Amino acid sequence: MENIKVERLLVNYKTLEKFKKFKEYGNQELSMLEDLQSNIVENDSESPFFGIYYGNALAARMSLYKVKAKYDKYFEPPQDYLELWKLEVLPDYRGNNYGKALVDFAKSYNLPIKTNPRINSHGFWEKMGFQKAKYEMERDFGQNPMIWAPEGISEKNIITEK
Ligand SMILES: CC(C)(COP(=O)(O)OP(=O)(O)OC[C@H]1O[C@@H](n2cnc3c(N)ncnc32)[C@H](O)[C@@H]1OP(=O)(O)O)[C@@H](O)C(=O)NCCC(=O)NCCS
Repeated sequence: MENIKVERLLVNYKTLEKFKKFKEYGNQELSMLEDLQSNIVENDSESPFFGIYYGNALAARMSLYKVKAKYDKYFEPPQDYLELWKLEVLPDYRGNNYGKALVDFAKSYNLPIKTNPRINSHGFWEKMGFQKAKYEMERDFGQNPMIWAPEGISEKNIITEK
């Protein structure tokens, strides 16, 4: 499909209503809703979500936010990186490169990216050039992060004690 446009989604009731169709609807969306209700955020303010519309339907979305270098435990040298979450293409729209378009959009920031893939999506992430981070118990407990980095940036070397 041509002309896939990735856009930043606005925080408003309309967007939040559309999010309900996504499987990974949870705390992040609910807290946005609460913040809207208590006027902590303005209707139509910018969210960490990006998406692809098909007509009026929100067909795909992801959450993307920057983690500061001082919190970086994944890359060498430590640097700002992007945490990519909740990438999801609604079932009717899969297989049209929407997933790829969202990942390419994230890559266009030219910062390393970390994600926690859902079960059965490893094949997709590998296709997108991501690789499994070396597992570090304390850091990755309960998760199996996958990472991607622009040229010249490598994964942090994990020293395992024997
Ligand atoms: C995984 C997911 C995001 C893929 O989105 P999509 O829009 O259907 O994928 P795309 O059309 O962009 O696919 C791009 C390429 O990846 C491949 N691909 C897609 N899903 C794949 C999978 N599960 N395993 C292996 N390869 C996969 C496609 O075949 C395509 O390859 P091609 O370029 O050689 O044709 C989508 O199926 C989805 O939302 N699944 C449920 C939620 C999920 O698992 N999210 C993962 C992130 S947490």
